[in-house]
Amino acid sequence: MASTLPVTAPTAGTATPQIRPGAAPDFEAIYATAGGDASRIPWSDGIPNPALVTWLDTVGPSLVRCGARVAVVGCGLGEDAREVIRRGYEVTAFDLSPTAVDWARALDPENASCYHCANVTALPPRWVHRFDLVVEIHTIQSVPPEQRAGIMGGIARLVGTNGHLLVICRGCETPAGLEDGPPWPLTERELIDLGQSNGLAIDTVHAFDDHETPPQRRIRAQFRRVARDQCVAEPKC
Ligand SMILES: C[S@@+](CC[C@H](N)C(=O)[O-])C[C@H]1O[C@@H](n2cnc3c(N)ncnc32)[C@H](O)[C@@H]1O
Repeated sequence: MASTLPVTAPTAGTATPQIRPGAAPDFEAIYATAGGDASRIPWSDGIPNPALVTWLDTVGPSLVRCGARVAVVGCGLGEDAREVIRRGYEVTAFDLSPTAVDWARALDPENASCYHCANVTALPPRWVHRFDLVVEIHTIQSVPPEQRAGIMGGIARLVGTNGHLLVICRGCETPAGLEDGPPWPLTERELIDLGQSNGLAIDTVHAFDDHETPPQRRIRAQFRRVARDQCVAEPKC
């Protein structure tokens, strides 16, 4: 169910005009003009991402202990961050949009201090290599392909020495062009290459059709930081 925040009234007749083909969305404008009505945020459905929940149920406990430091990138209204907090991790969730961050805090007042306004391409120095787990859902795909390297570079810098990165994004078979988005789905190869070129080795990658109607092709990929002198090339080295 969509959640609401009692701020300003929705602006009539402005159904996400900030989303145009071939251009990066103006995220702050989308959140601000929603006027506290989550049903006007196209990617928000009020629940944590099901593929994240499955991963946290099955794989997560073997990689990150309770209380571990977890970063949630591009957290939006905080559905995924709230789920990770609920499971006992120490969460730092952040988004570029100040309105989204205020909204996420209002939806989770007990944990308001977990939500921050920050740009993943210009991280606070104290976050660099700080996290045991980084959760990235639908941020990489939300920017044009030529901006992905910058976004992934920042995401990778969050990952600690023995840390892991979980990515969930839309998947495709052939690389998307600028006019195909937003969002811009990634091929498995594109995603793996983005990670490897930022010092991350791929542990698992899994393509699946999600629960939406009609189903959307998604990729769930798990990376880990490798020491500089370790080879990250495929196949095994
Ligand atoms: C498609 S939304 C996904 C939100 C949320 N992860 C979800 O799955 O519901 C992409 C989010 O990434 C945020 N974002 C985009 N670029 C960002 C950046 N450079 N740094 C931090 N957040 C960013 C946007 O403000 C937006 O909230």
